[in-house]
Amino acid sequence: MTRDPIDKLLDDAASGKSLFKNREVLHFTFIPNMVLHRDDEQKKVTQSLIPLLKKARPSNLLIYGKPGTGKTLVVKKVLDKIQERVKDGSFPIQLLYANAKEETTLYGLLVKFGRQLGLASQKELPTTGLSISEVFNRLIAVIEKNALNTVFVVDEIDYLAELVSKTGKDVFYSLTRANERLKKGSLTLIGISNDLTFKERLDPRVLSSLSEEEIVFTNYTVNQIKEILMDRIKEAFVPHIVDPAALNLCAAMSGQEHGDARRAIDLLRVAGEIAEREQSDIVKEDQIRKASLKMEEDKETTALNSYPLHEKLLILAVMKANGTTTGEIYHSYKNLCKITRQKELTQRRVTQMLSEIEMTGLISGKIVHQGMHGRTKKFALTLNPNTIKKAFKEDLALEDLL
Ligand SMILES: Nc1ncnc2c1ncn2[C@@H]1O[C@H](COP(=O)(O)OP(=O)(O)O)[C@@H](O)[C@H]1O
Ligand SMILES: [Mg+2]
Repeated sequence: MTRDPIDKLLDDAASGKSLFKNREVLHFTFIPNMVLHRDDEQKKVTQSLIPLLKKARPSNLLIYGKPGTGKTLVVKKVLDKIQERVKDGSFPIQLLYANAKEETTLYGLLVKFGRQLGLASQKELPTTGLSISEVFNRLIAVIEKNALNTVFVVDEIDYLAELVSKTGKDVFYSLTRANERLKKGSLTLIGISNDLTFKERLDPRVLSSLSEEEIVFTNYTVNQIKEILMDRIKEAFVPHIVDPAALNLCAAMSGQEHGDARRAIDLLRVAGEIAEREQSDIVKEDQIRKASLKMEEDKETTALNSYPLHEKLLILAVMKANGTTTGEIYHSYKNLCKITRQKELTQRRVTQMLSEIEMTGLISGKIVHQGMHGRTKKFALTLNPNTIKKAFKEDLALEDLL
């Protein structure tokens, strides 16, 4: 007999029934007990830091590989283990971690490290206002005063746009060469990058100094992803909840692209949530597929919502005048401006915006030859219009249009 759906939902909620045993395990910051298929990488990172235990300075290290290949996990694991061992050691070691995606300026990043070094107050280290070299000097002073052996980990270092500018480059270079200045203590730098082309963009001087050693994390295979997932499933779900076919599909979907363990784990979590909402007793292939669609849509929604208002109006104009010329799109755009009572931008500016949006892949342009009229470019959306409508609905300025 099938139960009343409302009753079932309320009963399940009341009894605390869930497909999940521990959802936290599927969060990307969770550090699992076992790091699978990364023995070599764990050994290499550990080895490069071993001089610390012998009171010597380790070499700087550059780690890179595609997203979700376990770089952050491995480095954090190694740091944790070393820190644990030196807790009651006879000489001070301090391991500092910051993510450049969260602290996108060099100043912010150095402040983050400074706080971890104990420069706690605004007076000791203000969040703004000093010159960057002064911030750096203050960190160096703490290291010297306490004869600290420090390791600075800069995760997702490719987000530090300043690394390619003049001043940022110089400060960063001095960071990589800090030891030459230190009379006591040491500073080792570990940079982690998800972007394989990052190296090419770096100043050669900075690169050679940062990558005294290098470790590359290769992509996981579909089978390796599957084993990582199986290990996580044991902790995260009630037994026998994830159908083997669903597991295979999840591993295949994330493994095929570039062996991204994060995507695989996310996919599994979202599929579990969908299964729960659908009151299914197990997670099946169907829910993995739905999870994949949902994640794709969420990604697009976030990207769409991050556009400024006039870009959004322009995207809507392309949507309304799909497959048409710049002139027609501009006409449609002007109309939308009128309805939303916005002052329209010039055609020149709008044309420029169109090419910028084209570069992100949201719209695609095609040159069309029109006989004696010469050639013109026609634009079309690459996304489902419904995705766009759904995303823009949250923007109050666009309410009247949607
Ligand atoms: N070898 C592994 N064993 C277990 N879990 C892993 C492994 N590699 C990655 N993960 C998990 O996959 C996710 C992404 O890993 P992460 O280290 O953040 O990747 P990266 O820093 O290379 O982008 C994290 O949730 C992490 O715990
Ligand atoms: Mg990472």
